[in-house]
This record gives sequence, structure tokens and C-alpha cells, in this order.
Amino acid sequence: MRRKLVAGNWKMNGSLSLVNAFCERFQAANFGAEVLLIPPYLYIPAFQSKKTDTIQLGVQNLSSFSEGAYTGEISALMAEEFKVVYSLFGHSERRQLFNETDQVVAEKVVFALSATQIKPILCVGETLEEREAGNAFDVVSKQLKAVLDAVDSKDLGRLVIAYEPVWAIGTGKTATPEQAQEMHAFIRQVVSEYNVAISQEIQLLYGGSVNVANAAGLFQKQDIDGALIGGASLKVNDFFEICNLAN
Ligand code: PGA
Repeated sequence: MRRKLVAGNWKMNGSLSLVNAFCERFQAANFGAEVLLIPPYLYIPAFQSKKTDTIQLGVQNLSSFSEGAYTGEISALMAEEFKVVYSLFGHSERRQLFNETDQVVAEKVVFALSATQIKPILCVGETLEEREAGNAFDVVSKQLKAVLDAVDSKDLGRLVIAYEPVWAIGTGKTATPEQAQEMHAFIRQVVSEYNVAISQEIQLLYGGSVNVANAAGLFQKQDIDGALIGGASLKVNDFFEICNLAN
């Protein structure tokens, strides 16, 4: 049985008071699902000082380099020192706004996997134009294979994949549970070309306008093992409720 994972991506949002509100709300909580918050780096120590055992912590991006003259970058080795458990890689905002190519994403994932115990959450997903042109599966397959081809097979078991159709991110337009399930089944099949056993265990998250009203329908689908949530992860009660729905 794959355990559900509910991840909140704060993007470049949040504040110390929001960290406090989350820590208070989640303090005595008990979920069947894994709960993960991915705030801006600076808030990681503030979360840790509150010692909320129910919340695991992740970061939104890490460098492909170990250290050196890379102003503004953060190394996976540093994140590991701060007990960061997960990192996003290849979020569509990184791909579109910061020009991250499939190759750059692959280099970052490979470094994190080979040099640390951090679990990468690889984000993939097509744009509206690509879906309407009938290319969604090809686009996702190419994004996936760029990373799967580069990763050492012994590290594959630590990978998580998030399917986030770009047209659903921050738009209020969610993929239907059927559309998401169809792509998740496809992603699992692509992973099976690399390792059949891992394809059955790997957690596949859906992301794109997940909220309290639509989460349960998505979680019911066979190949949807959780969610990567942006907007609704900034509302403490909504995020708490979604974590409950994933039980
Ligand atoms: P959203 O963002 O939930 O606000 O659509 C999801 C994401 O970008 O991870």
C-alpha cells in the first residue's frame, strides 16, 4: 500500500506569523498521510524551533553543484544539514520563469540523490497548448525520461513524481480526477520501463488548483497518491482539512 503524501508549496509566500499558525494548528494532529510543507528556505529553522513532529519539511529548489561561486544558490548538502527531507525539482515556474531545461533539472535531481538522502519531488506537466495539440503524454514522457535516464537505478526508490498540468496551476481550473488518473497511470507505466517494482511503490502526486472541495475526488483514484498544493497550502484550516481527507 502506498502511503498518501500531502505537500504544501508556499512558493515565495508566507511569514513568521504563518509559520507559527501552522505549528500551533498541526501540533497535536495525527494523520494517516505524510504531511510536508515546502516554505521559502528562511522559514525552515523557524518551523524546526517549534518541533512539530507531524510536519516534514522540504525546499523548493536546490543547486546541481555541491558548493562554490554560485551566488544566490543553495546546495543539497546544506539542506541536508538542516534536516530537510524533500526538495521540489523542475516546478513549472522554475522551468518557465528561470529557464530550467530538462537537462538542468536532471543534473539537480542526480546531485541530490547521489550526494544526500533528500527525496526529490520531480514536477512534470504540459501547457494548455500542448494538451490541446494532443501532445500532453509526449511532453510528460520527455520530461520524465530526461531524469529517469540520468538517475542511478539504486536511487530510484527515493524519487517522488508530481504531475502538475501547467494550465491547472493557480488558475482554479483543476484537471478532472479522470484526466489526472489517466496521466498518473501513464507515468507509472513509464517508470515501469525502468523498474517494475519501484513503479508500484513510487508516490505520484497531483498538483494544480487542489482545494478542500476537489481533493477527495482526486485522492480516490487508484494512481493518485497525494497532492502538491500551492494556494490552498497558505490557508492553515484548508490545508489541515486536505490532510485529513487524504487519510
Ligand atoms: P496551486 O499550485 O495549488 O496554487 O495551483 C500548485 C503548485 O504550483 O504546486
